[in-house]
Amino acid sequence: MTRRTIESLRDEIIGLDEPIPILGGKEQRYVFLDNAASTPAFKSVLAAIAEFLPWYSGVHRGTGYKARVATAVFDETRKVVAEFVGADPRRDVVVYGANTTGLINMLAARLGTGPDGVVITTLMEHHSNDLPWRKHGKVVHIGTDSRGGVDMDALRDALARHAGRVRLVAISGASNVTGFINPVHEVAALSHESGARILVDAAQLVAHRPVRMRPHDDPGHLDFVVFSGHKIYAPFGIGALIGPGAFFREGSPTLVGGGAVSYVSLNEVEWADPPHSEEAGSPNVTGAVALAEALRILGSVGMDHVASHERELIEYCTAGAREIPGITLYGPVDDPGIKVGVLPFTLAETDHALVATILSTEGGVGVRNGNFCAQIYMRGLLKVTPEAEKANRAMSCDSASLPGMVRASLGCYNNRDDVDAFLGMLGKIARREYRGTYKIDPDTGSYREEKFTPRFPAGLVRNGAGA
Ligand SMILES: Cc1ncc(COP(=O)(O)O)c(C=O)c1O
Repeated sequence: MTRRTIESLRDEIIGLDEPIPILGGKEQRYVFLDNAASTPAFKSVLAAIAEFLPWYSGVHRGTGYKARVATAVFDETRKVVAEFVGADPRRDVVVYGANTTGLINMLAARLGTGPDGVVITTLMEHHSNDLPWRKHGKVVHIGTDSRGGVDMDALRDALARHAGRVRLVAISGASNVTGFINPVHEVAALSHESGARILVDAAQLVAHRPVRMRPHDDPGHLDFVVFSGHKIYAPFGIGALIGPGAFFREGSPTLVGGGAVSYVSLNEVEWADPPHSEEAGSPNVTGAVALAEALRILGSVGMDHVASHERELIEYCTAGAREIPGITLYGPVDDPGIKVGVLPFTLAETDHALVATILSTEGGVGVRNGNFCAQIYMRGLLKVTPEAEKANRAMSCDSASLPGMVRASLGCYNNRDDVDAFLGMLGKIARREYRGTYKIDPDTGSYREEKFTPRFPAGLVRNGAGA
């Protein structure tokens, strides 16, 4: 495999120069600053899929040549994933699922807390690392510190208060709202001291920083790590949960059916060895091929290089954003070393949904706005009072009236041109120099420019009708 560099990663991105329509009838390249939601795909990922597909076959249940090739390829992908996060090949297994949400739900159902046990999580989590735990047991939420990261004193208190009963500490590696990187190895050491395991939701971390699970006998060892392929340049419907095989040998799998068993009679079922026990049904082999290739590429560049490139870019972006009149930035703004490349902000007297719409309509810049599936954290950052929260709820489904921000988020391939395009358009919005006339749809809370209905690519959307 050719050794890649940070600079060459830009050439790896599919669709980077695809022209998109903007207000006024012109076209320009899309400025992709929505990587925290999903990244675009690497070209080599597509090439790896194309190379594999002639050999595609169902895996594990066939003796045919292609089934054997596909099985070998599939098994190999698990090794790549394990290596990427520094898992122990003798003790850990890589379980595939659809995405982070699905895999956390699976783990929550698998873990169960029993009548006395608890799971500790934080108030900065994505809903996907909060609601599954609530569904399957008792959850203790700990707060955040003044910078927006986990409050380590509150964690110590909670571990002491529930000593002997904490089954798991479930924490984000990095926040999808502020980008704050939690000190996961420190959290792990505290968790282990009190007999608990740790799960790191690495959905926002793994594409931006090196993730190392560390040896099992290291106090800072990460027991479980989970992430999604679509946030790491492999958007092909796959996610991975890495954790100890011994854990999955206890009890019974969440999802049961073909592939998860080694013996079935009317009265008896013997579960297959993990990870197969956790993957009932036919697995997403193509997704696994895609994921492994994306990880190989990032591994060949080196995650340290990715991290330093993104850090330099978020510093550049933050410095420029500070100059925008009326802007408020959130999270650890003054300390780019403890965050990934996410810039959450609001503009005075301009709805977050309107800002995001103008960025797209007139600047061709793709960002995201809203609460980013982290409503509790969002309310805390925006200091929404309980009264205001109540009033907001009464305003029903008008999403623009809900507390929210705009979020620009970087990937390994973004450069200063992308940031300049974003800041340039943002400056115009702040100075009220945008050209369009925007109306809100009260049913959806989204904005639209009065006369702008861009056509979608005809081959993709019936008749190319715009929206
Ligand atoms: C921190 C975090 N956790 C979990 C998720 C859920 O990931 P997925 O939608 O791939 O299941 C996201 C998605 O944005 C996220 O940012």
